[in-house]
Amino acid sequence: MKKITIAIDGFSSTGKSTLAKQLANHLEYVYVDTGAMYRAVALLAMQNGYINAESFDTQTLINSLPNIKLQFKFNPDLGFAEMYLNDVNVETEIRTIEVSSFVSKVAEVSEVRTKLVEQQKEMGKDKAIVMDGRDIGTVVFPDAELKIFMTASASTRAQRRYDELVKKGDAVTFDEVLANVEERDYIDTHRKDSPLVMAEDAIEIDNSHLNREEQFDVVLQLVNEIT
Ligand code: C5P
Repeated sequence: MKKITIAIDGFSSTGKSTLAKQLANHLEYVYVDTGAMYRAVALLAMQNGYINAESFDTQTLINSLPNIKLQFKFNPDLGFAEMYLNDVNVETEIRTIEVSSFVSKVAEVSEVRTKLVEQQKEMGKDKAIVMDGRDIGTVVFPDAELKIFMTASASTRAQRRYDELVKKGDAVTFDEVLANVEERDYIDTHRKDSPLVMAEDAIEIDNSHLNREEQFDVVLQLVNEIT
C-alpha cells in the first residue's frame, strides 16, 4: 500500500486529534499533534514570565527559541506520543485552560511558527504520517495527498472540551471554555502569519452530528481511495 501524508486542520476542539490518532493506529503511521508543540512553547513562556494576563515579551521569547527543545516520545501504555519540553514530560501541563488562554497569542509570533514548521516538515519527510493542526494542509504539507478540514459549531466544541476538562478534575465553567474556544477561533483565523483557512483541495467534515466511528469510517474510505 502506498504511504501518504494526511493533513488534518480545523478549529479548536473539533476532535482532530481523536481522528488523527485513530487513523495513525489503524494505518500504522506516525501521529503528530502540532498543537502540543505550540502549547509547550506557551507553557515555557508562562513559566519564565514572558507572557501573563497583562503583558507579552515577544522579543525575549524569540531570543530563547534556539534553546527550546521539543520532542515527542511514544508511551506504549497510552498508545500515543507525549510532549517533552527540554526533556521534561509536559503532556498534562500543556492541556490546562491557562495554557489554552495564552497559546494562540504565542502561535501568532512568526519566529515561533518558523521554528515549529521546520521541525514538523522534518518529521514528515518520509510520509506515513498523520499531522493535525491549523496550517498543515496550507503551509506544512501543501502537497499532502489527503487534506481534511474539520468543523463543528462553537457550542458543540466547547461542550466536548468542557467535558474533557471536568473529567480531568479541572475547575472550569462552560462559559469560560466557550469564551476560550471563540477567542482562539478569532485569533487563529485573523493572524497575519499562516491564518487558519481551509486549503483549496481539502475535504470539509462537519462532525457536529457524527460520532467517532462514523467520522473515522468516512475518512478511512477517503484514504482507501488514494492508497
Ligand atoms: O490543536 P490545539 O487546540 O491543541 O492547538 C492549540 C493552539 O495552537 C491553537 O489554538 C492555535 O493557536 C495553535 N496552533 C497553530 N498551528 C498549529 C497548531 C496549533 O497555530 N498547526
